[in-house]
Amino acid sequence: MLIQFRRLRGKFPGCEFAGCGAPLPWLLLSFLSTLFLPIMLALPPRGTQTGVVRPSTMPAFYRDVLPILQQHCQRCHRQGEIAPMPLVSYEQARRWAETIRKKVRTKEMPPWFADPAYGSFSDDPSLTAQQIATLSAWADAHAPAGDPRDAPPAPHWTPGWNIPNPDFVLEMPKPVSIPARGDVEYTYEIVPTGFSQDRWVQMSEVRPSSRAHVHHAVVYIRPPDSEWLRGALRGVPFTASSLHDEKLRHRAHSTTSDMLLVYAPGSSPDHWPEGMAKFVPAHSDLVFQMHYTTNGHAARDQTRVGMVFARQPPKQRVLTLQLAYDQHAIPIPAGAENYRVEVRGTLPNDATLLSFFPHMHLRGKRFEYNIINPDRSVETLLRVNYDFYWQLSYRLASPRLLKAGTELEAIAWYDNSRNNRHNPDPESAVEWGDQTYNEMMVGFFDVAVPANVDKWRFFIRQNHPEPQANTH
Ligand code: HEC
Repeated sequence: MLIQFRRLRGKFPGCEFAGCGAPLPWLLLSFLSTLFLPIMLALPPRGTQTGVVRPSTMPAFYRDVLPILQQHCQRCHRQGEIAPMPLVSYEQARRWAETIRKKVRTKEMPPWFADPAYGSFSDDPSLTAQQIATLSAWADAHAPAGDPRDAPPAPHWTPGWNIPNPDFVLEMPKPVSIPARGDVEYTYEIVPTGFSQDRWVQMSEVRPSSRAHVHHAVVYIRPPDSEWLRGALRGVPFTASSLHDEKLRHRAHSTTSDMLLVYAPGSSPDHWPEGMAKFVPAHSDLVFQMHYTTNGHAARDQTRVGMVFARQPPKQRVLTLQLAYDQHAIPIPAGAENYRVEVRGTLPNDATLLSFFPHMHLRGKRFEYNIINPDRSVETLLRVNYDFYWQLSYRLASPRLLKAGTELEAIAWYDNSRNNRHNPDPESAVEWGDQTYNEMMVGFFDVAVPANVDKWRFFIRQNHPEPQANTH
């Protein structure tokens, strides 16, 4: 099975929100003073404590709780972001103290699904045992405020964004009307960038205007020489089946274009390390591929993407590749609890591995990325206890150089039994398809390659050069 880079089919995810997570072992509940101490030592010295702060082991909001909320929660729990309530001020947080204790003890919050036994990830928001202890002890103590002068400086959030103020914002010119009910076919909108020169994008973020209806968005970079969806009108929404030209219609879901980024609720914006960026050639279009779901309320959506450009031309270009499975292993039999699907691919050239974004639908249970070593031993890079309602990306704390010839494997497990509480129909076999009651398997991963290498050139193997290189 080859890496299916050719076929970025229009299959994608979805997310509403639901609770999740495993029960926390009891031992974390009995710490207080001992476990609590290190976090206080780790805080910057603040001079003598005054006022209402009680014994030194009693956690207080401004000194002990707020720093945790700022670093681990406010990305989502602030005005205008995806969480249902802000956790910024004392008044806001105090009312939630008990629920916070519960959600952090069960590790439902902050959401994170990587098995800690494998790999370490720079975007892991998980709390340490000490931090969980602090939040719990604070709730136990009836949420004392402490001294506002102990508060750390407020973090600087860009209003409306989770990236610094974008250099460039591109919005779908025409809103998409979403009906109240029924399935909505994948909707495309092609938007010219108007870039008269090549651009390198260091950070990017997708912001739907009607977040509750967006199951996923993929933003593709369509270079000026690409044939993909040529003939479809720019600046207006359309679906594949609305295209008159049959060839165009047939190939709407297939492209070799690189992705700028993928969005699903809960996913973080893209932020590439120094010296690495996504390449947007001059005169490219961005193609928004939107998967909307209905929820009883009709709405209009006009999604935007914000970009921060690299300050210097980077040395490396980031490409998004995928290990994806085609139809063969699916249907998943009715009632199957642990149905396994695997895909392998061999890296044609050296590449620095940066991050992962696994994708399945409602029966998704577990997803793993492995390296198969030449001696056939397996090294697991990431194992995700998959939750359909939280589609996250996982960025390696240390990017890792993989040599040409490295064999990569993605394995997905599905639970089509009634034990899976998200399962809409355990009595039926599941087919492959776009809608969330169908299944799919895609292991996206991002790599950095030399700046002058595009996707086509990357897939040309040095020992089997293809005669007609399709570059530029
Ligand atoms: C990636 C975004 C994100 C992060 C980070 C995050 N949350 Fe949440 N949180 C949500 C969303 C969305 C919900 C509502 C859906 C749900 O409960 O799953 C939620 C729900 C909650 C709830 C339950 C609210 C209710 O109505 O019962 C609590 C409590 C909570 N979060 C606390 C926290 C705390 C404390 C942190 C940090 C330690 C945190 N969250 C980090 C997104 C986030």
